[in-house]
Order: sequence, then structure tokens, then C-alpha cells
Amino acid sequence: MSIAGMALAALALIALLGGALVYFSPEPGSDDTPQMSDDEILEAAHQFYKSRPYYERPFLDFEIPEGLPDLRSETCGQCHGEIHREWSISTHRRAWTHNPQFMEELAKARGDYYDDQDDDFSWMCVNCHTPMVPQLEKLVIGLENDEIGRPIYVDNPIFDEAMQDEAIGCATCHVQDGTVYGPRGDTDAPHAVARGDHLLDEQNCVRCHQAEAIFPEQNLGCFFSTGDEWEKSPAADKGHHCQDCHMPKTTRKLAEAYDVPERETRRHWFGGSLIPKQPEFEEEIKALRPIFGSGATVSLDLPDDADCDDEDCQKLAVRVHNEFAGHLFPTGDPERHVEVTAVVRNAHGDAVAEVSEQIGSRYQWYPEIKLLSDNRIDPGESHLIDIDWPSAPEALTVEIEAYKYRMHEDDFDYHDLHGRLVRGRRFHHSSWQVDNVRREATLEFVEDDFGRRDELDPENTPPSN
Ligand code: HEC
Ligand code: HEC
Ligand code: HEC
Ligand code: HEC
Ligand code: HEC
Repeated sequence: MSIAGMALAALALIALLGGALVYFSPEPGSDDTPQMSDDEILEAAHQFYKSRPYYERPFLDFEIPEGLPDLRSETCGQCHGEIHREWSISTHRRAWTHNPQFMEELAKARGDYYDDQDDDFSWMCVNCHTPMVPQLEKLVIGLENDEIGRPIYVDNPIFDEAMQDEAIGCATCHVQDGTVYGPRGDTDAPHAVARGDHLLDEQNCVRCHQAEAIFPEQNLGCFFSTGDEWEKSPAADKGHHCQDCHMPKTTRKLAEAYDVPERETRRHWFGGSLIPKQPEFEEEIKALRPIFGSGATVSLDLPDDADCDDEDCQKLAVRVHNEFAGHLFPTGDPERHVEVTAVVRNAHGDAVAEVSEQIGSRYQWYPEIKLLSDNRIDPGESHLIDIDWPSAPEALTVEIEAYKYRMHEDDFDYHDLHGRLVRGRRFHHSSWQVDNVRREATLEFVEDDFGRRDELDPENTPPSN
């Protein structure tokens, strides 16, 4: 920062603090950090962040509850072992160094990819991926010339590197005002507790899952509307919150080593698309697939007899039905998409028709961010992929495969993520026998997140939307 910049920062601070007296007189030629006490730094950062929209702020409440040494998830895990083990394999735990794509995008946001400009937007990205103030290496106390890409950084006096690596940890959702919030508030815990009804509220999740980080200058964006999508969904009408689907219920002791009763509580896996971040996480994550299933079921459709003239009868359709997600399928990151393929074979095994379709939003990232198309599926709705074939043999076999991907191949290649990140996985594979004279389709087998079997309806389904 230049001296002029610091003078501006001082002015901005005084303005922000409403005239409160904050003195710091930088030594000319000394290091870049203004001479402020730790308390002054934290207060200045607090005031700055409070002046920004919610999606540009970290969680400003980081007071350590009485009875605890710090806010690390590892500390909570010493007593809440099972919950800690669940959270440890969740994507929330993987949102920092375990996510090589995020690290690449962060470097881009810092301006590392560009020679011709030095804007830095990374200070905003870290606020949702490492959301507690002790997780931030540097704090922002103002913007040079009020420009969003010109943060005025100071070293964070309470930076905790071990906690930073934990990403979205226990304290993010449970700690506020120096208290551990739980759904009861009357447990006999060795730390302060209070009842927090907000825990079960969708706002607990939406404050991060409704994101609007768009920076066309760096052809970069992290934006999605899972909160809005949920609000308009049948799930919301039925009172099914994010937690009802993403945190299944169980009965157990909350702190294994303590003499406490078993309680009805919730799992902390936060399963979603269940694409592991890195190849080595596949082993631990695969046990979650039969618990969460997938958002959509895939099946083969024959047009109704009633509206089936000769030509239509040579048509089949793959139905992708958003049966279990409480929002669009897929939701979240704008690069998320699903790819469905179907191959029709005659009695000799020759392929007579083949279709392949993508479901998702498609953006152009450069030279400006522009939505090109969006065919994501509303909750409770279906997307039909028509298959035509040239002639109508009597017996057919149709093989369907469906994959979900976190990003498109060109972006994956651009960041050279091969071997470091898993791009996607198959979530459905089935084979059908079609009797085209009787217009009947019979399932031969289906293999999805519930395993391989010969009927479509899984026995043990999560709450449907
Ligand atoms: C502090 C911000 C924050 C809060 C609060 C938060 N999340 Fe997340 N969540 C994230 C981030 C960031 C990711 C993505 C991390 C990544 O991909 O590296 C994520 C990922 C997820 C995923 C994706 C899992 C997958 O398969 O990839 C699910 C599901 C999810 N969160 C559900 C929830 C629910 C339910 C709540 C509320 C109980 C919640 N989140 C609260 C930030 C948050
Ligand atoms: C993304 C938000 C989120 C994160 C991260 C999170 N929790 Fe939770 N936690 C919740 C919600 C929501 C509940 C469910 C409240 C309910 O059952 O009504 C809950 C329930 C609990 C309970 C049960 C309380 C009771 O009385 O039933 C404990 C204990 C707990 N969490 C501890 C932890 C620990 C330890 C971690 C870190 C390893 C953690 N949580 C991480 C959101 C979170
Ligand atoms: C020294 C052990 C210990 C540590 C460390 C610890 N807890 Fe607890 N916690 C307990 C015990 C014991 C209970 C009461 C359990 C019961 O009665 O079922 C409890 C209760 C809770 C509850 C339920 C509160 C309620 O009344 O609804 C939550 C949530 C919780 N802890 C979260 C956390 C989080 C988050 C951390 C870390 C920031 C943490 N705990 C650290 C032992 C601990
Ligand atoms: C009715 C159940 C249900 C509700 C309610 C629900 N979800 Fe989901 N959600 C799902 C299912 C099922 C999936 C898995 C979709 C798939 O197969 O990729 C999912 C996927 C996700 C993902 C992962 C996106 C990805 O591609 O990894 C996120 C993030 C998410 N949900 C967040 C939320 C949030 C935030 C809320 C509340 C505002 C919420 N969900 C409400 C069922 C639900
Ligand atoms: C308002 C909170 C918020 C902000 C700000 C934010 N993110 Fe995210 N980010 C999330 C959430 C929530 C997810 C998970 C979405 C999902 O999986 O559906 C996520 C996911 C991601 C992912 C993983 C996508 C994947 O497919 O695995 C990357 C990479 C990412 N963000 C980069 C960034 C960058 C770079 C910035 C700054 C320009 C940023 N984020 C700013 C909340 C945020």
C-alpha cells in the first residue's frame, strides 16, 4: 500500500467509526501494515465488513465460549467424536486446501493469472470457504479509492492456521455471542450452551448457499441460488428444510465419553452430489451413497398408446425425474451438469440409435460472463430426452447411462486438474427390453447409488421433494 493509500485508509476508518479516534502513524519506508493495536485492527475490520453485503463478509462473531480453549473443530471432536468423524469426510471439511480447484480459482481471484492488472477479489472468496475471522490470514479494513478489487489488508492478529485448514467447521454453525448453540440449550455441557432455533432454519445454510460473487474482469464467478430455488419448491411448502434432507436423523449419545442419554439428533455428512474432491476420498465417501441416493431417478418412457400414431411409436424417451432434490437438479455451482446417454440395439446387438444430452446451465466465461442456456429440472418435474430410430424392429434393448460432473472438461483441462480432482461420476446405469409391438418396456437391471438390482424403486428412499 502506498502512503497515500494509508492516509486514505485512515480517513476511511475515521469515517467508518463515526468520528471515533483511531490513531496510527505509519513510519515512512517501514512495512505495509499500519501501526494499530490488535483491538483496533479487529474493530476496523469489523466495521469494514459490516458495511459490505452479506456475501462479502466473514462471520464476525468469533468469541470463544466459556469452557473451551479455542474454536477449532478438532477441539469439539475430542468430545463429539462421532459427529466430528462424519463432518471430517463432508465437503464442508474439504472447502480449502483439499479443493485444488478452489485453490486455482483463488489464485485467479488474487490476480496471479494476469500480467496486465493487479485487482484482487480473493478477500471475498475466503469469507464463505473459511468463514470465521480467526481463519483469515489477512483482514480487510477498507478499499483503496472505494474500488472492490483494491482491498487494504492488515495481518490478522488472531489468525489460526490449523483452524483455517478445517474450512467450514463446527463453530461456523454452532457458535455465536460466546455461546454454543444447539437445538436444546439445556444439556449439561462443559461449555456454555443455549437453544438456537436458527440451527434448523434454512437461513443457516442459505447465508452461504445463495452466493453472488461475480467478477467479469477475471472471468470468475461463484454464484448460485439454491436458497431461492428451495423457497419455490414443493419441499418448502411441506416444511422440509435443507437439514431434513442433508442431515438425516439418528439416535445416539452426543458426547461418547460422558454419562449422557441417547438423544434424537442429526448426521453431519452434508451429502450432495457425492463426487469426491480428490481420488483418495472415494473410499470414505462411497458408503454415503446408499444413504443419500441421488436427486433424480432415470427411467425409460414409451409414449402413451392414446397419442401414438405410427411415427410417434418409433419413439422412446429417457425420463430424468427430479424426485428427491428440494431445488433444481442440478443446483449450486454454475458449472455443475449431468450427461445422459442412451443406446438402442436391435435383436442382433447392432446400435440403431444413440442420444446424448446435457442437463445444466451453460455459461460463457470470457470475455464476459453470459448465460448461454439452462435446462436444469425443477423439483417434482421431469426432463424427457427423445430417442428416434430409423426403422421399428420388434425387440429392442436400450442401455442408459447418466453421469454427474462438477465442471466441464475444458475448464478441467485449463486448470490441469487431472489426477488432483475428480470431475464427475456415473450415478445411473440401466438396461431395458422393449417390445415395440406391445409397447412395453421391462427393466433388466439398474445400478445406481443404492446398488445393483432388478427394480427401480429403492426400498429405502430419502424424503422426496
Ligand atoms: C460458511 C458457509 C456455509 C454454510 C453456513 C453452509 N455451507 Fe454448505 N457448503 C459451503 C461451501 C463453500 C461448499 C463447497 C465446498 C467445496 O466444494 O469446496 C458447501 C458444500 C455443501 C454441499 C455439497 C456437497 C457435495 O456433494 O459437494 C451441501 C449438500 C451443503 N453444503 C449443504 C449445506 C447445508 C444443508 C447447510 C446448512 C445446515 C450448509 N451447507 C451450510 C458453505 C457453507
Ligand atoms: C453446516 C452447519 C453445521 C456444521 C458445520 C456443524 N453442525 Fe452440528 N448441527 C447443525 C445442525 C443444523 C444440527 C441439528 C439441530 C437439530 O437436530 O435440531 C446440529 C446438531 C449438532 C449436535 C446435536 C445437538 C443436540 O442437542 O441434538 C451436536 C452435538 C453438534 N451438532 C456438534 C457439531 C460438531 C462437533 C461439529 C463439527 C465437527 C458440527 N456440529 C458441525 C449444523 C452444523
Ligand atoms: C470437553 C468436552 C466437550 C468439548 C470440547 C465440546 N463439547 Fe459440546 N458438549 C459436550 C457435552 C458433554 C455436551 C452435552 C451432551 C448431552 O447432554 O447430550 C455437549 C453439548 C453440545 C451441544 C448441544 C447443545 C444443546 O444443549 O442443544 C452442541 C451443539 C455442542 N456441544 C457443540 C460443540 C461444539 C461446536 C464444540 C466446539 C466448539 C464443542 N461442543 C466442544 C462436551 C464437549
Ligand atoms: C427434499 C430434499 C432436499 C431439500 C429440502 C434440499 N436438498 Fe439439497 N439436495 C438434495 C439431493 C437429493 C441432492 C443431490 C442432487 C444430486 O444427485 O446431485 C441435493 C444436492 C444439494 C447440493 C449439492 C450440489 C452439488 O452438485 O454437489 C447442495 C449444495 C444443496 N443440495 C444444498 C441445499 C440447500 C442449501 C438446501 C436448503 C435451502 C437444500 N439443499 C434443500 C435434496 C434436498
Ligand atoms: C456467499 C458465499 C460464497 C462466496 C462469496 C464464494 N463462494 Fe465459492 N462456494 C460457495 C458454496 C456454498 C459452494 C458450494 C456450491 C455447490 O457445491 O453447489 C461453493 C463452491 C465453490 C467451488 C467448488 C465448485 C465445485 O464444483 O466443486 C469453487 C471452486 C468456488 N466456490 C470458488 C469460489 C471463488 C473463486 C470465490 C470468489 C470469487 C468464491 N467461491 C466465493 C460459497 C461461496
